[in-house]
Amino acid sequence: EQDCYILAVETSCDETSAAVIKNGTEILSNLIASQIETHRAFGGVVPEVASRKHVESITLMLEEAVRQAGIPPERLSAIAVTEGPGLVGALLVGIMAAKSLAFALGKPLIGVHHIAGHIFANRLVQEVLYPSMALVVSGGHTELVLMEREGSFEVLGQTRDDAVGEAYDKVARSLGFPYPGGPFVDKLAGEATEAENLPRAWLEPGSYDFSLSGLKSAVLNAVNQHKMRGEDGYQPAIARGFQESVIEVLVEKAIRAVRATGSRQLLLCGGVAANRGLRTALSERCEKENILLSIPPLTYCTDNAAMIGAAAYLKWKSGEFSTLELKAEASLSL
Ligand code: KG4
Ligand code: ZN
Repeated sequence: EQDCYILAVETSCDETSAAVIKNGTEILSNLIASQIETHRAFGGVVPEVASRKHVESITLMLEEAVRQAGIPPERLSAIAVTEGPGLVGALLVGIMAAKSLAFALGKPLIGVHHIAGHIFANRLVQEVLYPSMALVVSGGHTELVLMEREGSFEVLGQTRDDAVGEAYDKVARSLGFPYPGGPFVDKLAGEATEAENLPRAWLEPGSYDFSLSGLKSAVLNAVNQHKMRGEDGYQPAIARGFQESVIEVLVEKAIRAVRATGSRQLLLCGGVAANRGLRTALSERCEKENILLSIPPLTYCTDNAAMIGAAAYLKWKSGEFSTLELKAEASLSL
């Protein structure tokens, strides 16, 4: 059997990334150009700026990814690209580049869902056992996804307002940290000796949905009260209280979803999977409950093209190719 080499592209938000993946799991190259420094001045990602930055670096990234992989471009089996969800202008840059290459080289094109990419980042390090439950936590998504078998996705629950990463970034901003503030809140929470008492959003009994906006408002109120009273040094307790509230609900609902569906494995993924508090709490709980947990290494948690290549490989195996009509979809369902 011939080896499969997939060149994957990811430009859905603020990272330009290109990777070459061999046979679905072997990472021959994975280049990531982050635009964070550029967007930081604006306190968040500016879509128009993101698109332009992608345009500036995409060609070089693709060339370099293939060069580092050490194979001639003709040897590629397919070109994969994130088709959505994400910023439409940003997605478009990756899609146009991927289409052009696929056309010029005469290779099949594979459109990949960004969340499928985050989920299959786990395949880069571990086999996925079905049925499998994924807890997707990123700057744009908070979802519990059931995969009965390879290639099937059922969203059991999702956020009704803010995504977890988004809430982290807003809380971080209120505590005075630069964008993206998730890692700062994580660190501060770890150092705290006490926790501010903050609400938990369980929603209706049995619901797998999430809600972060009430908690976010509670944090902003608490910060304002501390400020009004002229107090300082309150930040660690707020970070800790916020993180405890988020983690308790995420862990509880994920475990319940695994049990209710008879899932053989829990996959944690997305940028917030880098959160130390969440990784620890979920690991301890899964250990106690005898649930097999998979968490990708940090580099594959935040946006990258290797995960897109891993997801594309499954489509390549089953011959699910896209046409050159492939469009950028800002909101695309799994
Ligand atoms: O998956 P990702 O790179 O981009 C999206 O697809 O959204 O996730 C980025 C998000 C940001 O909101 C960032 O603050 C958050 O992940 N994040 C964290 C941590 N590291 C990254 N949130 C909490 N704790 C962390 N350690
Ligand atoms: Zn992402």
